[in-house]
Amino acid sequence: MTLAPDRPGRFGLRDRLGRRSADGSTPAAVYGAVRPVIVFRDVEMTYPGGKVALRDVDLTIREGEFVFLVGPSGAGKSTLLRLLIRDEVATNGQVLVDGVDLARLRRREVPRVRRRIGTIFQDFKLLPSRPVWDNVAFALEVTGAPRKTIAPAVDRVLALVGLTAQARQQPAQLSGGEQQRTAIARALVHDPRLIIADEPTGNLDPLISWEIIQLLLRINELGVTVIMATHDAEVVTALRRRVVALEDGRVVRDELGAAYHRED
Ligand SMILES: Nc1ncnc2c1ncn2[C@@H]1O[C@H](COP(=O)(O)OP(=O)(O)OP(=O)(O)O)[C@@H](O)[C@H]1O
Ligand SMILES: [Mg+2]
Repeated sequence: MTLAPDRPGRFGLRDRLGRRSADGSTPAAVYGAVRPVIVFRDVEMTYPGGKVALRDVDLTIREGEFVFLVGPSGAGKSTLLRLLIRDEVATNGQVLVDGVDLARLRRREVPRVRRRIGTIFQDFKLLPSRPVWDNVAFALEVTGAPRKTIAPAVDRVLALVGLTAQARQQPAQLSGGEQQRTAIARALVHDPRLIIADEPTGNLDPLISWEIIQLLLRINELGVTVIMATHDAEVVTALRRRVVALEDGRVVRDELGAAYHRED
């Protein structure tokens, strides 16, 4: 892993994101200048009952990155992602999202921080009795977004994920891939800077999984930072992105342009 130390910003965002190398990573000299979106400092997470799910986790993810989080079942991937949306609070160390220390957040400030993050899960978590359009709109309605801004925002994200024609269908009338694209549209409707995906292709067959991954890559190209937990070795190895591997709650590998399995 070659990561440059922090240095003052020199390039504009578009310029920085444009300077990708063939493996999709940002060159180290430029990387150091890009703003961190996620910072874990010496994080430990012990669940009530005593299970230590994360230990000594130090991790910085910068704006515009696409990061795969891998590791065996029980390694702590979902726990790490849950800390980012403050579903859980670290028992030690610091978790910062956009510079905000999540442990210091007041309860009433949590929704505002969560709104800047789009979440996607293995089970799509859609409202079964509402059409696609409503599922996406509902995510904005609950935040008190002005009514007249909701319809154009929903139409825009449905077009982005390719579901304009299915807008009136109920989730049960959709394929698994379409249901996941609905969930992605819902995650995007707030215009988040960060997408957190926990095994988003876990319930999908390989071809449909690729469709979902392509969509996430396109969203990443629009400047959204993506962190995705997955067991899909084929996808991870084919794409050669940054791979953070957890084992027994520790980061055991953090590598740019990497494969699913350690190669050295
Ligand atoms: N709410 C909880 N209470 C107690 N222990 C938990 C809780 N959630 C997870 N754990 C434990 O913490 C460890 C890490 O779990 P986690 O769900 O983060 O793993 P994971 O890497 O996401 O696994 P998988 O690949 O199976 O999804 C496991 O040993 C798990 O049993
Ligand atoms: Mg998990």
